[in-house]
Amino acid sequence: MFKKNKHGIQIKTPEQLDGMRAAGLVVGRTLELLRAAVAPGVTPLDLDVIAEKAIRDEGAVPSFKGYQGYPASICASVNSEVVHGIPGDGRKLREGDIISIDCGAILAGWHGDSAITVPVGEVGPELTELMRVTEEAMWRGIAALRPGAHLSDIGHQIEKYARSQGRYGIPQEYGGHGIGTEMHMDPWVANHGRPGRGPKLEAGMCLAVEPMLNLGTDRTRVLADDWTVVTMDGKASAHFEHSVAVTEQGPWVLTALDGGESRLGTVNRT
Ligand code: MF3
Ligand code: CO
Repeated sequence: MFKKNKHGIQIKTPEQLDGMRAAGLVVGRTLELLRAAVAPGVTPLDLDVIAEKAIRDEGAVPSFKGYQGYPASICASVNSEVVHGIPGDGRKLREGDIISIDCGAILAGWHGDSAITVPVGEVGPELTELMRVTEEAMWRGIAALRPGAHLSDIGHQIEKYARSQGRYGIPQEYGGHGIGTEMHMDPWVANHGRPGRGPKLEAGMCLAVEPMLNLGTDRTRVLADDWTVVTMDGKASAHFEHSVAVTEQGPWVLTALDGGESRLGTVNRT
């Protein structure tokens, strides 16, 4: 039923990729709602409520809720929070903040997982540039998802671009992952490293590509809530993620509303 290659990586049939696309679109549409809802005065919990309703209204289930005891439908990580911030109502977003919103859903057994970092009102140039570089690093990594490329080419492209743009910290202990009938599957996808290493990519593989970049140190710690990852120096961090299928026609960005076409310049199935 579910095929794996010799490295234990799930290989989807074209029909199964259609299932992945449907799940990815639920996540992509939910994140667009959340992007539009971000504003000064809004709380991360407000966003979580919007997300859970949007996901369930599409007949899907929020994958984060209950995952290893996680209590919410999204992760909401503000400023120096890198990933896995738990949405609460204790702190309103303020003009000048940035918020990383990570969202996952299961539709008909298939997982989608994607994240965006969004400015709250007007934000300073350094944060705007941090977001731009992180998103572009993600797209450079995604562009490496071609049959015959090596797994480590993804992280290599991410790191190469980030380093070309400034002195950004790349947290070493977090990265992307295979995705399919579960949110986190083999392989682990580093956001750094040398090219040409690891398993070869093949059509039917689905990977979540998710760089995080910090304005300062790459070192992080986890808060006492056991979830929230923050930078050690308190400087800001950004995070972008898409779930992507490897196809003979190039990367199919399952969680992008246009399949990745506008950013990659490749035409794929939408
Ligand atoms: N989307 C995150 C990732 O890509 C997972 C969130 S962890 C959860 O790894 F517990 F919130 F689900
Ligand atoms: Co992920």
